[in-house]
Amino acid sequence: MEQSTPSEPLSYAVTRNPTPASDAERARRMDSQPFGTVWSDHLAKATWTLEGGWGSRRVEAFSDLVLHPGATVLHYGQQVFEGLKAYRWADGGIHLFRPEANAARFAASAARMALPPLPEEDFLASIEALLSVDAAWVPAQDETSLYLRPLLIGTEACLGVRPSMTVEYLLMASPVGAYFPHGVKPVSIWVAQGFHRAGAGGTGQAKTAGNYAASMLPQQQAADHGCDQVLFLDAIHDAYVEELGGMNVFAVRRDGSVWTPRVTGTILEGVTRDSVIELLRGDGRDVIERDIPLAELRDGIASGAVTELFACGTAAVVTPIGRLVAPELDLVVGDGGAGALTQSIRGRLTDIQYGRAPDEHGWMQRVV
Ligand SMILES: Cc1ncc(COP(=O)(O)O)c(C=O)c1O
Repeated sequence: MEQSTPSEPLSYAVTRNPTPASDAERARRMDSQPFGTVWSDHLAKATWTLEGGWGSRRVEAFSDLVLHPGATVLHYGQQVFEGLKAYRWADGGIHLFRPEANAARFAASAARMALPPLPEEDFLASIEALLSVDAAWVPAQDETSLYLRPLLIGTEACLGVRPSMTVEYLLMASPVGAYFPHGVKPVSIWVAQGFHRAGAGGTGQAKTAGNYAASMLPQQQAADHGCDQVLFLDAIHDAYVEELGGMNVFAVRRDGSVWTPRVTGTILEGVTRDSVIELLRGDGRDVIERDIPLAELRDGIASGAVTELFACGTAAVVTPIGRLVAPELDLVVGDGGAGALTQSIRGRLTDIQYGRAPDEHGWMQRVV
């Protein structure tokens, strides 16, 4: 499907919610709810048609969707999404972390799923428009943020397997605290058995629903084995570490180097992953992007050559991995606690995101 050019100016017409949550109600809803279960007062939207391209940009009251039961998104999963956060700084300003990276990945995911990419400036304009009316939903406490969820769905009612000729863009926002309810404690990970997240030429690199649907059964099995998260191996050899269901993985070695799986098209290229690599390389540290056999990781943890493992992503930032579990394998990583480098990289990243440290990389963008 050809990339459309914007067919009208990038202004989102704002119609305010006539019954927004009161201050008290908003405060009540924002208070320690499970991740991603509370919604702000508005949605930003845009509509794409084959003839007209992108148009009808608007912000309106948050409401349920009216969707034809035959919409392609419901039958064939033609959709892509993103996840980024708006952070409130001590001075009250609201900032985004590398939103242009999410905009670019949103467009790349859309292209893979034969959806019309939303232009980057449109992506950013929609966030600004939504925050212009929902700024009060950006929480101010430590470790909190407003999680932004851009979504693109095929809306045409058609049972033929072909790209939808009408597409809806939606941006919703959800105030969040920490992703893991028990805070920054180390998580345990279960190595998926007989299931893979993505194969060569598939959709692993795209942020699209099917990848996550496919991860739910292995994630349940991880929970059945007492683990917090599932780790996927590659689909060809069933041997190389790829990523978790929703996070990238790093291993810290005793010699000071840091390893992370190289991206080959089956792994989501995380914005956090890229930022961690840049911060570590900026320190002069050796960061090696390579294939990592599970056997090598296992032996390294057992011998002490691997001292720390951590996962990273927008939702949970940087999370220590304390235990690696598979049939006939149950290894504690390091001393099972949060390693020094894991803690320091998490601290540095969150200090930049919350404006507590200088933004030397030009990653933060003020919106309000
Ligand atoms: C499968 C998967 N891997 C990795 C990540 C981390 O990506 P990011 O750092 O851009 O949030 C995510 C989260 O978006 C994900 O869903």
